[in-house]
Amino acid sequence: MRILLGVSGGIAAYKVAIVLRQLREQGHRVRVIPTDAALEFVGRATWEALSGEVVTTTVFEGTEQVDHVRLGREADLMVVAPATADLLSRAATGRADDLLTTTLLTVTCPVLLAPAMHTEMWAHPATRANVATLRERGVHVLDPAVGRLTGADSGAGRMPEPEEIVAAALALRKRAAGEGATGSDVPSGTGSLHGRTVAVSAGGTREALDPVRFLGNRSSGRQGVELARVAAQRGATVHLAAANVDSALLPDGVTVHPVESTAELQATMTALAADADVLVMAAAVADFRPAQSAGTKTKKRADGSVAPIELVQNPDILAGLVAARRPAQVIVGFAAETGDEHGSVLEHGRAKARRKGADLLAVNAVGQDAGFGDVPNAVHLLDSAGEQVGAASGTKHEVAEGIWDAVGTLLSERSTTGRGHAAAPRTGTVGS
Ligand code: CTP
Repeated sequence: MRILLGVSGGIAAYKVAIVLRQLREQGHRVRVIPTDAALEFVGRATWEALSGEVVTTTVFEGTEQVDHVRLGREADLMVVAPATADLLSRAATGRADDLLTTTLLTVTCPVLLAPAMHTEMWAHPATRANVATLRERGVHVLDPAVGRLTGADSGAGRMPEPEEIVAAALALRKRAAGEGATGSDVPSGTGSLHGRTVAVSAGGTREALDPVRFLGNRSSGRQGVELARVAAQRGATVHLAAANVDSALLPDGVTVHPVESTAELQATMTALAADADVLVMAAAVADFRPAQSAGTKTKKRADGSVAPIELVQNPDILAGLVAARRPAQVIVGFAAETGDEHGSVLEHGRAKARRKGADLLAVNAVGQDAGFGDVPNAVHLLDSAGEQVGAASGTKHEVAEGIWDAVGTLLSERSTTGRGHAAAPRTGTVGS
């Protein structure tokens, strides 16, 4: 196969030498097209030596061959790694200001981009829009991994590992050639959930006061629904425990378990936990329930007095799941916080992360306008020690993508190390 390997100017360029070597070892002919900025990180000699082909960066070299047109016509597959924010922007707007972007305009083969950049750049609306544009055009843009970035910081933006890029690229080519692979065979960065079983809870539980009245909360279930949808898209077998979620919202391709009360949700999630690799408690669980629930409708009293409602505390479902966790099972919780005089949203989130012990706690601010319903969302991802290991923002779908990326990183760390949650490292290895 003839493969074009674009390299743009990010520190992760050094890891792309491994991508090149692996593709060559599998017998593919690879022509590397770096940008000038990429050559600041890894020099021309490395690319030429490893590929065995000439390396140029502009259309003014090799003019007799009209390289960008010839290369585009001959290619079976094009991969760009790392794809920086600048490269994504230039590709999305159709710029042709160097050999790499010009070639991107001439290829008709499948194109795979492996982004790498700082979390803020990946989350920026301009980058989100560029990625959406490219995906709409059929370009396969991998989700970046979550982990250590160039400096001391960590978050979403790490380039997927070379093995994952190679696997995704070859699966993409196979699919395009109609060789039996399906869309979900294409791994999505570290977020691939092939062969995994996940159970997600969504919605808000209701505690009956009598047959017609209940205590409840304002959760629409949309974030949990998006988590279930994205997990199914990434190849997982998905169970959704839906607590009073509008049926119009329920996603295709998942097994829905309707529940109403906290007790029902607890029973359902506990049963699903037996087979699940990942448990996500996105439901807003009623912390209290009436001590008594009347069997018949409660009538108003003749004297106008109102009977007080005695409440008792509900079990903490998440805490129960964490206590019974199997080795290597990943558990994700949510913390809906408003912040108050005792602390900020994040401070409350950190304390809750340590208290709950989930592998990941997605902390988001809620209030009158944020967090509930069909509005953009933003979450901090904390580990069980309360340390921030990532962030995700945007639509609820994009937040779900970010959360599954983080879960994917944990799952692959655990399968690589063969260790369970107690010993698993919290972030990736040094690199970008
Ligand atoms: N949760 C749960 N069972 C409960 C309460 C909450 O499983 N009885 C889960 C939620 O699904 C969520 C996480 O715990 O994943 C945090 O929920 P939240 O309501 O923010 O926290 P609480 O434990 O209720 O703490 P508090 O209301 O005191 O902040």
